[in-house]
Amino acid sequence: MKAFLLTAAFAAIAGLSGCDRASQSFSLPQGNVEQGEQVFVKYQCLSCHTMSGYETDTENLPGSMETPVALGGQVSRIRTYPELVTSVINPSHRLAEGYETESGQSVMPSFNDVMTVTELVNLVHFLESHYELEPYPRTEYMSPR
Ligand code: HEC
Repeated sequence: MKAFLLTAAFAAIAGLSGCDRASQSFSLPQGNVEQGEQVFVKYQCLSCHTMSGYETDTENLPGSMETPVALGGQVSRIRTYPELVTSVINPSHRLAEGYETESGQSVMPSFNDVMTVTELVNLVHFLESHYELEPYPRTEYMSPR
């Protein structure tokens, strides 16, 4: 019981301080994947990211980046749209390993003052459609003798 209360208190504090907001859900209107692709190209996401079926100029990555960050493809845990929205509108919420910066700010710029909400909705639907769950690795058990 005590542990439960403590957990609840921490959850409340985390909620207040804005941590872990990505786990709180919200509902996006229906998006359009084709229009989302246009947004993806328009804002040049491919200057830092790779995605299968698209070209990335890996020779000319911005400043400190050595390798592009892969988007889409097979992942062990599917990206939900709250997570994808968070990644786009708050890129510094969590820095990926190997992409830490001294300032703690993501290399990824903010598009918040230029991208419309409709563009964001379509973009996120486009991104979401490119993630695929990889087959669950089954544990091989030795058969008892
Ligand atoms: C200047 C480079 C740069 C640009 C431009 C850029 N990103 Fe990123 N992006 C990053 C980096 C670096 C990360 C990894 C997070 C970190 O450590 O900062 C990232 C992370 C992400 C993630 C999270 C990936 C994951 O697996 O968790 C998404 C989604 C994403 N970016 C989408 C976009 C989209 C969509 C655009 C275009 C609107 C874009 N990015 C433009 C550099 C960039």
